[in-house]
Amino acid sequence: MIKQEWKEKGFIDEPVAAGTDLKEEIRRLCKEKNAVVLAHYYTAGEVQDVADFVGDSLALAQIAEKTTADILVMCGVHFMAETNKILSPGKKVLIPDLNAGCSLAESCPAEKLAEFKAEHPGYKVVAYVNTSAAVKALTDIVVTSTNARAIVESFPADEKIIFAPDKNLGGYLNAVTHRNMLLWNGGCHVHEQFSIEKIVELRSTYPDAKVLAHPECKSGVLALADFIGSTAAILSFAEKSDAQVFIVATESGILHEMEKRCPEKRFIPVPPSSGQCACNECGFMRLNTLEKLYNTLKYEWPVVELDEELRVKAKEPIVRMLELSK
Ligand code: 13P
Ligand code: SF4
Repeated sequence: MIKQEWKEKGFIDEPVAAGTDLKEEIRRLCKEKNAVVLAHYYTAGEVQDVADFVGDSLALAQIAEKTTADILVMCGVHFMAETNKILSPGKKVLIPDLNAGCSLAESCPAEKLAEFKAEHPGYKVVAYVNTSAAVKALTDIVVTSTNARAIVESFPADEKIIFAPDKNLGGYLNAVTHRNMLLWNGGCHVHEQFSIEKIVELRSTYPDAKVLAHPECKSGVLALADFIGSTAAILSFAEKSDAQVFIVATESGILHEMEKRCPEKRFIPVPPSSGQCACNECGFMRLNTLEKLYNTLKYEWPVVELDEELRVKAKEPIVRMLELSK
């Protein structure tokens, strides 16, 4: 029975009995219910450690499409769980906290994009995966940071394109693909705040360090980067590189996997422009706690549901992306 107060909160806050081994219980429930836990690299380390799969947004979408599990629990943000539901309508898709939104997805309301589209007839719409299902339904193709460049390049050079919602990723893509896509003015509150001054300072302290940046960062940060890529690409660059020290301009949850894969290397998170805190965390991603994950598996709630007509419309541009990413 799902209590009204949980529905109002958007998550289950039932206290877990003292002495419960949460990780063991989560694994037991997964086995009992044929459930899999998917986690993004930005979640807390302990959530990543208990998950069946950890990945970037493309990998998590690809897993959702293929898995034979009956239940998918998405420890990430809402658009990721929605993508899972779009691709796997027959599965029960759960998210530990319905409040796990995304500032970037919220920067592009579907009705505003529809107006913008109507003002620009003849334009194709390319949308970053960090968007709602309603926005995806308005687009020609979805991209993630892993495949965005290749997908934009798959359009004829003179194709007129609207790119939404991240203006930083869009600007970066325009620069590397020599396009002139019209950019939606959206951004991520985490990636927009990395301090250029702190990167310059860290660089002078560690002259041999490599600066790694996610393309959602501002152009000034990207200009200082030795490598720009998605979370998965950043991880693989750090693994293969001969460098021993890395200055990391993306959400700090990724350091968990970096340190696991490369225990002998040093990873320094870039601090935000304001405040002294050395961490840059996505508060939405961190809403996924072990307690909530356990309760979600136990009660099979919160469930992510979608209107069927919308789901079918939103699926087309995601499937096009997955086809081009094989
Ligand atoms: P990735 O596509 O690199 O996983 O990034 C997702 C995201 O939310 C970045 O902020
Ligand atoms: Fe969204 Fe930014 Fe959080 Fe990524 S880091 S999920 S873009 S708010």
